[in-house]
Amino acid sequence: LPRDLFVPVRGNSTGVEFGDSAALADLLAEIAAAPTHVDAAPLIDGVAVPDRQRDVISPIDGAVIGTVQEGDEAIVTSAMAAARAGYPAWSATPVETRAAALERVGDLIEENRGRLIALLQSEGGKTLDDCVSEVREAADFCRYYAAEARRTLKPCMLQGPTGESNELRYRGRGVFVCISPWNFPLAIFTGQVAAALAAGNAVVAKPAEQTPLVAFEAVKLIHAAGVPASALHLVPGDGKVGGLLTADPHVAGVAFTGSTEVARLINRALAAKDGPIAALIAETGGINAMIVDATALPEQVADDVITSAFRSAGQRCSALRLLCVQEEIADKVIEMVTGAARELTLGDPRDPATHVGPVIDAEAKAKLGDWIAAMDSHGALRFRWDEDRALPQAGTYVPPAVIALDRARDLKHEVFGPVLHVVRWHADELEQLLDDVAGSGYALTLGIHSRIDATVAHIATRLPNGNVYVNRNMIGAVVAAQPFGGSGLSGTGPKAGGPNYLHRFALEQVVTVNT
Ligand code: NAD
Ligand code: ALA
Repeated sequence: LPRDLFVPVRGNSTGVEFGDSAALADLLAEIAAAPTHVDAAPLIDGVAVPDRQRDVISPIDGAVIGTVQEGDEAIVTSAMAAARAGYPAWSATPVETRAAALERVGDLIEENRGRLIALLQSEGGKTLDDCVSEVREAADFCRYYAAEARRTLKPCMLQGPTGESNELRYRGRGVFVCISPWNFPLAIFTGQVAAALAAGNAVVAKPAEQTPLVAFEAVKLIHAAGVPASALHLVPGDGKVGGLLTADPHVAGVAFTGSTEVARLINRALAAKDGPIAALIAETGGINAMIVDATALPEQVADDVITSAFRSAGQRCSALRLLCVQEEIADKVIEMVTGAARELTLGDPRDPATHVGPVIDAEAKAKLGDWIAAMDSHGALRFRWDEDRALPQAGTYVPPAVIALDRARDLKHEVFGPVLHVVRWHADELEQLLDDVAGSGYALTLGIHSRIDATVAHIATRLPNGNVYVNRNMIGAVVAAQPFGGSGLSGTGPKAGGPNYLHRFALEQVVTVNT
C-alpha cells in the first residue's frame, strides 16, 4: 500500500509540554475560566428540551456540576423523526463540504480545550494529561475522517470488459445511532459521530449516562462548525434510552462502544426490529495481557506496566489487566512494579501532579472494592496503595492493587479499574499460557516484552489481538497511525481511526450505463 494512504492531510494535533511552565499556565488559565456548571438536555434540530431532570455529580468530590434532562420514548421518537427528515439533505451534501465542516469541528475542539478539559475533569474524573490526550484524539478523529472521506468516498469510474460505463458511488446508510461509553466521553463520542457524518448519515447520538455534559458541549461545537442541526441530534439517557433507540425500526446502523454484554443486547435488538437490516459496529472490552519473557528489561517492563495498568485509573479498554512474567525475572519485575505503584500520586485529577484520579462512580468503586476484597480473602492480594495511608475521604477513589493468580485463565472477566493481575510462567509453559490468554475469547490489546525477535513474531502471530505493542506500554493508540479495535468478544471491527472504518458507515451504489 502507498505510504500516504494512512497519513491524514493535516497531521495529528500537538500536545502540551507540561515542563514548559508558560504553556502549562496558559492551559490552566483556560480551564479555570471555563463554566463550572452546565445544564445538558436533548438537542433535537438544535433546540434544547430545557428541563432539569437530575443533577450530575462529580466523581472527584461528589459536588453537583450540572443537570441533565434525559430522553424518554417521546424524545427518542422525535429525535429519530428529525434525523430521518435531515438525512436527505446531508446525504446529498458534497463530500468536500461535509469534510470541511468536520475539519472546522477539529479546530473548534482545540480552540475550546479549556471548557472541554474542565468538564472531562469534573464529570469524568480525568487527570490533566489524559484530558489533553483526549482533546487531541477528538480533534484528530474529525480531521482524519474528513481526509478519509475526501480520499475514499468520492465517486469513481470502474473499468470492465463490457464496454459500459460503471460509476461507483457512496452515500450514507440513513439514520445512524451512536452510543458511547463514559471513559472517553469526548473522543469516542466525537469519533463515532464524525465518522457517521463524514459518510453522509444523519445521527442520533446517546452519550453514557455518567457523562452527558461534555457530550452536550461537543454537539454544540459540531453544530457551530457548520454541521446542520438537522443532521445531528443528541439524546442523553441510560441503557433504557439506548434500548429505545436501537429498537427503532428506522435505524440503519449503530456505532456502539462499551461492554460486551451491551453489544450483545444491541445485536439482538437490531435483529428483532423491523425496517432495514442494520449495520452494527461494536467496540467492546478486553482481558488484556502483557507477556514478558526472561530477556526483557525489568526497568522498562515496570515502567510500561505502571502506565498500562494504572494510568486513567485503569479505566481504558486497552489497559493491562494480566501481567504474565517469566519466572526468572518475576520477583524483580513484581518488586519494581509494586515499588513504583506505591509512589503514584492518587487524588484530585485537577492537580497536574496527580497520576491516578477517581473511578467513574460509586457503583464502579463498590464493584472494584468487592473484587479486591475477594482476592484478599483468597490470599492473592500482593499490594494495595492504601495499605499504609488513607484514600481521599470524598469522591470515588479505588487504590491501585496487584493480585497474584496461578493461571492466566483464572481471570474470567474484565476488571475495569486500577487492578493488575500477575501470573508467573516457566519456559516450557509458553504455549499453554498463549492458549489460556486466547481462551478468554477477548482479543483487544496485547503487550509483548522480549528481546528475541522470533518470540515476538511467534506470540503476535499466534494471538489475534487487534493492537499488539512490543517493548512499550499498551495504551494510547494514535489516530491514523495505530487504528484501534479488537475481535471476538472485543468487537466487530473495523478499527476506529483507521482506513477501513468509514466504509462500514456508507452504502455503495454502482450505476452502469450502456454507452
Ligand atoms: P456500557 O456497556 O455499560 O455502556 C456503554 C453505553 O451503552 C452507554 O451509553 C450506555 O448507556 C449504553 N447502554 C447500556 N445498555 C444499553 C442497551 N440495552 N441498549 C443500548 N445502549 C445501552 O459500558 P461503559 O461502562 O459505559 O464503558 C466501559 C466499557 O466500555 C468497558 O467494557 C470497556 O472495555 C469498553 N470500552 C471499549 C472501547 C473500545 O474501543 N473497544 C473503548 C472504551 C470503552
Ligand atoms: N484508544 C484508547 C487507547 O488506545 C482506548 O488507549
